[in-house]
Amino acid sequence: MDKIIISGGKPLSGEIEIGGAKNAALPILAATLLSSEPHQLKRVPKVVDIFTMQKLLCAMGAQISEQDDVCTIEIKQITSCEAQYEWVKTMRASVLVLGPLLARYGEAHVSLPGGCAIGVRPINLHLTALSKMGAEIVVEHGMIHAKAKKLKGGTSPARQRPLQGMPIHFEKSTVTGTENIMMAATLAEGTTILTNAAQEPEIIDLACFLNGCGADITGAGTEQIVIHGVSVLSGFSRRGCTPYCIMPDRIETGTFMVAAAITGGDLMLRDCNPGHMESLIRLLKKTGVEITSGKSTLHIRGKAIRAVDFTTMPYPGFPTDMQAQMMALMTVSNGLSKITEAIFESRFGHAAELRRMGAKIYLEGNHAIVEGVKALSGAPVMASDLRASSSLILAGLVAEGETEVLRIYHLDRGYEKIEEKLSKVGADIRRIQ
Ligand code: EPZ
Repeated sequence: MDKIIISGGKPLSGEIEIGGAKNAALPILAATLLSSEPHQLKRVPKVVDIFTMQKLLCAMGAQISEQDDVCTIEIKQITSCEAQYEWVKTMRASVLVLGPLLARYGEAHVSLPGGCAIGVRPINLHLTALSKMGAEIVVEHGMIHAKAKKLKGGTSPARQRPLQGMPIHFEKSTVTGTENIMMAATLAEGTTILTNAAQEPEIIDLACFLNGCGADITGAGTEQIVIHGVSVLSGFSRRGCTPYCIMPDRIETGTFMVAAAITGGDLMLRDCNPGHMESLIRLLKKTGVEITSGKSTLHIRGKAIRAVDFTTMPYPGFPTDMQAQMMALMTVSNGLSKITEAIFESRFGHAAELRRMGAKIYLEGNHAIVEGVKALSGAPVMASDLRASSSLILAGLVAEGETEVLRIYHLDRGYEKIEEKLSKVGADIRRIQ
C-alpha cells in the first residue's frame, strides 16, 4: 500500500492550479444515463471515485473515451440497470444512478449503501422522494429494487401557473438526495417542486449541465428547485455547445488555503471560484490569515494563527468537508478552539491521529475542543477517510520531523496528485509506492 512521507517546517510559496470538482463530476457522470446521445465533459478530475463511477457506467453499457482533457461518454443503449454491492461498497455515490435509471428506463436495482467512517449515511430521503414520484420500491437482501412506468412530478401539467402539485420536501438538507431527485424529475410527467433542497454549488453545476441537455430546471442553488419534466434529453455536446466544463473543486481549494495558513506560506490559487469559498474565507481571515480574492484566483498569506470556533452547516454555511483540515490548523493556533460537527455523527476520526503528533484535542459527542500547541511532532499516522487524510498531510507540513501518512487510498479517492502540487510549492513530500 502506498504511503506519503513529509518532512515538515517548510513555508509553502508559489502557485497551484485547482482541478475540477469530484462532487460535481460524480452526479454529472450519473446524469449522462438520461440521454442516448454523446456528452462531452472537461475538467473531470482524475481521482479514484471518478474512475469507479466511470467503470460502473461502462458496466451498464457506456462507451467512455478521453482526449485532450475532454471526456466523451455515450450510452446508446443500456445493458444493465444494476449497481451491485461491489460498486456501492467502494463508492456510496453510486446511488446517484438511481434517479436517472428510473427516469429513463423505469427500473433500477441498486445496492443499499452501508455506513462509512464518518457516519451511518442513510438514503431514506432519496427513497421517500422517489416513492412520492410514483416509484415502487422494495428493499431486500441489501438491494433497492425500484420500478416506475413513468415518474410523476406534481399534479400540475408542465408550465401551469401558479405551480400546483405536491412539493417534495426534504426533512433534512441532502446533497445527493437533491441531485438524485432533480435528475429523476427531468424526464418525469408534470412539474416537480423540491423544497428544503440542498444549495451546494455542485447542485447548480448539475442543473447547468442538465439544462444544457434540454432539461427545464430553475432555482438550483436555492432551497426551492422547480423542474418541469420534458420528454427527452439530448447529449450536452449535440446542442452546439463546447464540452461542459466541471466547476472547480471548492474543497481542494480550501485544503490548499489551509496549507498556506498552517505553514505561514504565500500561495496563489488559480482556476478556483472564490464565490464558493465565502464561509471559509471569513473564518480564515478571523484566524489572521491574509486573503485576496480575484475573479478566479485566491492569494493566501499565512500569519500567526488565532484560535476560532466553528460549526459545520449545509451550504452556504461552513462545509463539513473542511472540518478536518481546519482542525489541523487549530492544533497549532494560539488558543482554544471549539469545533462542532453538525452534519455527520462520527467525523472526528482524524483527532486520534493528530493527537499522536502532539495535538491537544478533547472530544465530547459532536464537539471537539482544540488547545493550540507550539509545535506538532512528526509521526506515523493512519488515514481513516478522505478528508481525514488531507488533514494529516496538512499537520505533517508543519510538524517537526518526519510524518508518514498510511492508508492513502482514502486520499486518492478525492485529490488528484496532491503531493505533486504541494512539492511544486516547496513542501518536502513524497509518495512511497
Ligand atoms: C455529499 O454527501 C458529499 N458527497 C459529501 O462529501 C459531503 O460531506 C456531504 O454531501 C455533505 O456536504 C458527494 O457529493 C458525493 P448528505 P451526501 O446527503 O449527499 C443525512 C467528501 O468528502 N441524510 O448531504 O451523502 C446524512 O446522514 C464527501 O467528498 C439522511 O439522514 O450527504 C447526513 O447526516 C464526504 N438521509 C446529512 O443528511 C438521507 O436520505 C447530510 O448528508 C440522506 C442524508
